[in-house]
Amino acid sequence: MSTDVEQFKIHDEPFYRPQRGEIDLYRAAYQERLPVMIKGPTGCGKSRFVEYMAWSLGRPLITVACNEDMTASDLVGRYLLDANGTRWVDGPLTTAARIGAICYLDEIVEARQDTTVVIHPLTDHRRALPLDKKGELVKAHPDFQLVISYNPGYQSLMKDLKQSTKQRFCGLDFDYPEKDLEIAVVAKEGGCDEAVAAKLVHIGEIARNLKGHGLDEGISTRLLIYAARLIAQDIAPDAACRMALVAPISDDADIRATLYHAIETVFA
Ligand SMILES: Nc1ncnc2c1ncn2[C@@H]1O[C@H](COP(=O)(O)OP(=O)(O)O)[C@@H](O)[C@H]1O
Ligand SMILES: [Mg+2]
Repeated sequence: MSTDVEQFKIHDEPFYRPQRGEIDLYRAAYQERLPVMIKGPTGCGKSRFVEYMAWSLGRPLITVACNEDMTASDLVGRYLLDANGTRWVDGPLTTAARIGAICYLDEIVEARQDTTVVIHPLTDHRRALPLDKKGELVKAHPDFQLVISYNPGYQSLMKDLKQSTKQRFCGLDFDYPEKDLEIAVVAKEGGCDEAVAAKLVHIGEIARNLKGHGLDEGISTRLLIYAARLIAQDIAPDAACRMALVAPISDDADIRATLYHAIETVFA
């Protein structure tokens, strides 16, 4: 069974503005084929960065959005029934190991720990993946690399990675881009001018200061881009901000009032 590698290649350069040295650090980790963990709040640019690096390194990228119903078989593969009987179908992790892709397990903490352990043999000197049900040991392609993203924000005792998993990765700490960079990103991705982007980023700053004071997580760069896109559709800024920046993140009346006030002040 052969896989079309081309379908996993990224042909156009993804828009990505470096924050601080992460490109060189990632490239060095890739040269050593070290597994990498990208940590940071949701919507701060982690996935975009991985897409950019896969493009930059010329490697295919296989992304898996992890969730709590995911089983080891969803990653590794399973036998399926078809007209001719049973047929083994590789899961995304196995495909990536075979073709030498970068395998990106997005939001890994969402997966159950008994699922997560299947990555262990791929992340140490063995660089192999046992397919127990099939009785095959897949040796990882020399170009294969494993990357995971991880949001320390919603870490709880129930949802965290085991030390035995964590200590198989090196980590890159991500955060929302600093002010000028975020303005440039919101303007480019949101299709608005820099003056509007600067106002949105300012509202983002105010909201991020409420983190821990009633807000679990600040407004992400992704949501700032949503607001910009609504404004680009001629929605009034305050309505756009309410829809993109307030409604999704809080149901608390006081927090909402604070954010509404900030929006009115900034766009006055
Ligand atoms: N440094 C950056 N360069 C380009 N775009 C960025 C950057 N940081 C954030 N973004 C934008 O923010 C949005 C959310 O990024 P994403 O990678 O999906 O977040 P995450 O994976 O961290 O949840 C995307 O539209 C992305 O373009
Ligand atoms: Mg992501």
